[in-house]
Amino acid sequence: MLNTEESIQFEYIEKLKEIVAGIEKRLNRKPTCQVTTFGCQMNARDSEKLLGVLKTIGFKETEADDADFVIYNTCTVRDNANQRVYGRLGALKPFKKNNPEMKIALCGCMTQEKSVIDKLRKSYNFVDLIFGTHNLFTFPELLYRMYTSDSQVCEIWNDTEVIAEQLPVDRKYFFKSGINIMFGCNNFCTYCIVPYVRGRERSRKPEEIIEEIERLADDGVVEIMLLGQNVNSYGKKLENPISFAELLRRVEQIDKIKRIRFMTSHPKDLSDELIEVMKNSKKICKHIHLPLQSGSSKILKAMNRCYDKETYIALANKIRREIPDISITTDIIVGFPGETLEDVKETIDVIEKVSFDNAFTFIYSKRTGTPAASMENQVDAATVKKHFDMVLTKVQETAKKQLGRFLGRTVVVLCEGTNEQDADLLDGRMSGNTIVHFPGDASMIGKFYNVKLTAFHGFYYDGEIVDKAGNDCG
Ligand code: 5AD
Ligand code: SF4
Repeated sequence: MLNTEESIQFEYIEKLKEIVAGIEKRLNRKPTCQVTTFGCQMNARDSEKLLGVLKTIGFKETEADDADFVIYNTCTVRDNANQRVYGRLGALKPFKKNNPEMKIALCGCMTQEKSVIDKLRKSYNFVDLIFGTHNLFTFPELLYRMYTSDSQVCEIWNDTEVIAEQLPVDRKYFFKSGINIMFGCNNFCTYCIVPYVRGRERSRKPEEIIEEIERLADDGVVEIMLLGQNVNSYGKKLENPISFAELLRRVEQIDKIKRIRFMTSHPKDLSDELIEVMKNSKKICKHIHLPLQSGSSKILKAMNRCYDKETYIALANKIRREIPDISITTDIIVGFPGETLEDVKETIDVIEKVSFDNAFTFIYSKRTGTPAASMENQVDAATVKKHFDMVLTKVQETAKKQLGRFLGRTVVVLCEGTNEQDADLLDGRMSGNTIVHFPGDASMIGKFYNVKLTAFHGFYYDGEIVDKAGNDCG
């Protein structure tokens, strides 16, 4: 059943269908839309919702920049993402001059920052619609206002209690989907802007989540990714509290779902119960993304991460011991205020000891309003670059060794799509998240195969199909 908010938005969707039909008449062709996503899996999921509404009201998706409706779903975790958005926006201006029907919209984390809104108002007044992360579900209403007004529509909320997850969604893949199990974050890591732009942590009720996954499963989805900034604290504040591990147990019961992934796990909250559930599950993938951020206990303290170097290593060892073959991936920030060569060596030591299957390494980016931005001991760019290269080299060296361990084995692979470089090859994904290329055709997309891994190329494999896989996700 739809809640009140969802019903209101469906009414706007009906009104928008008429507006878009009018545009189609004037243009004498179907109007086009382009949705560009910056940032994380949460934004990717939000973009599927934007596209769902746009297609429902009559737009055709395009990758072209001169679409009749262009929307950027932004990220502001690091400043370079903001700069890319400003660059892309600037490049749209000439298209808009040539096409009086063209509309430009901006949403996502960047728009939750006041300084961004000020800048957009001053220098990018050709943007027609701006909204934030908390009111994304009102997209139909905002679109309607944009199409019926002569001036820029800008609406940003500071928070919301509303959860409206039953509006149209256009999934990028028919066989897999993300699903939000919670929103926001309460951790306030001192470098991170997420708690300020995504708000306080809120969990969805387990019944709603299960219902949505069942609907997705009936619609052909076999792999589900449970999304939250810190899934390990899922459900703790619900009226009827439930652990993340228990939620996983319930998702596992859904017959048609064959693979379960989740993102992201904060090391401080990872429970033994979760390890136990993962260990005994046939469906939960053998992959855990466990952001380290730094290997130095001193820096971890300054980051407010609530664990130290030894605890992290012990946790990773425990996971590897209990769940053999699991892939552990991580995020690392280099150049946090006060970080010295000694601290970087501690990070490198953890990389050597844990041997991550993959690590995303980031240069620290100063985010206005976060505690770290006003720390006095900021590290100079040249030193950060030197340290970053050291960390990256170590990550590449260890990941290559670690990931290569599957060579010669036969593993279960979910076939995800045709390879972009070679149309005779397919891209599949192992349980541990590693990509495998193997010969096949498009009819195999969305199905599981047993694939023998015949060559290793540093971060992906080549393989050959042995046979179609049974029910086991590998
Ligand atoms: N600078 C650099 N990297 C950051 N991240 C979050 N905030 C910052 C920042 N200010 C990284 C963290 C996080 C990932 C999603 O982005 O590593 O895990
Ligand atoms: Fe940011 Fe820390 Fe929350 Fe992750 S856990 S979103 S790094 S504040």
